[in-house]
Amino acid sequence: MPAITATAPGKIILFGEHAVVYGRPAIAVPVNQVRARATVVATPREAPGTIRLQALDIGLDTNYGDLPPDHPLAYAIHLVLETIGLKEAPACVIRVTSSIPLASGMGSGAAVTVALMRALAAFLGHPLPDERVNHLTYDVEKLYHGTPSGIDNTVVTYAKPVFFTRGEDPQMLTVPQPFTIVIGDTGIPCSTAITVGDVRDALQEQPEEYEPVLDEIGEIGDQARSAIEAGGVGELGQLMVSNQRLLQQLNVSSPELERLIQAAMGAGALGAKMSGGGRGGNMIALVEPDITDKITEALQASGAVRTITTVVDDQP
Ligand code: PMV
Repeated sequence: MPAITATAPGKIILFGEHAVVYGRPAIAVPVNQVRARATVVATPREAPGTIRLQALDIGLDTNYGDLPPDHPLAYAIHLVLETIGLKEAPACVIRVTSSIPLASGMGSGAAVTVALMRALAAFLGHPLPDERVNHLTYDVEKLYHGTPSGIDNTVVTYAKPVFFTRGEDPQMLTVPQPFTIVIGDTGIPCSTAITVGDVRDALQEQPEEYEPVLDEIGEIGDQARSAIEAGGVGELGQLMVSNQRLLQQLNVSSPELERLIQAAMGAGALGAKMSGGGRGGNMIALVEPDITDKITEALQASGAVRTITTVVDDQP
């Protein structure tokens, strides 16, 4: 049996994080510069059913059967076997690597799951359609935090800019005028479960204060979609600034994120905001391509531990 490899990109949310958990639209795009990769190789000398899992980046090298069933990678393997209806897989080793920063809002968990599921299913002779991969990855995402909106698994599976509303079919965006985003990492791990939980508590305690904030974020998502599809990139910067103000009201920003956002704006970005769960992780800045270096330097001087420049377009 030949070795089978599959990959999946990282992602960032451009608009609508947190509000998307409550049915408002959000926009996310793939980041192809960072990827998760899974390779499955047959190990015919091992007993049938032996699946070895190696994710050396995170110090994991063990048998599938020895992992707790709620380990995300074990659960992903289980879901593939169950979907295919296979009791016992041919002996194999699954090697997982990823260049996507962990716990920074770049979708590393979803991308690893997508790559692993695609590679394993193909190895077993039953490649899974994207729609199925997306749904199964959503099931795994629920292990990370109880109420994911589903935006991460969707953008990572389809690897295209997506306009996403929970419970609805994802809509792929056309991007007639590609635009440049610089991503700055605070280096502080972002726990999406904690910030999502805090927003949920705030919403339950003071719906009259927080529901309107979510509504406004949703409206920004709609406006951003129109701007992107009309090629009106200029408007996007202002929409990012407005979205960030609303995220501050949800108490999910942090001094470190604010410092990077200010640095990017000071260096001439068209707009900037945090991206993902918040209180750490990444911020993003919309920039004219010719000042990318200047923005990157400003972010690094203000404490960014990593920067990534990516161009958003609708090409595969
Ligand atoms: O931290 P990330 O990028 O995985 O962001 C999660 C985005 C939230 O809207 C905060 C949660 C969700 O499930 O959509």
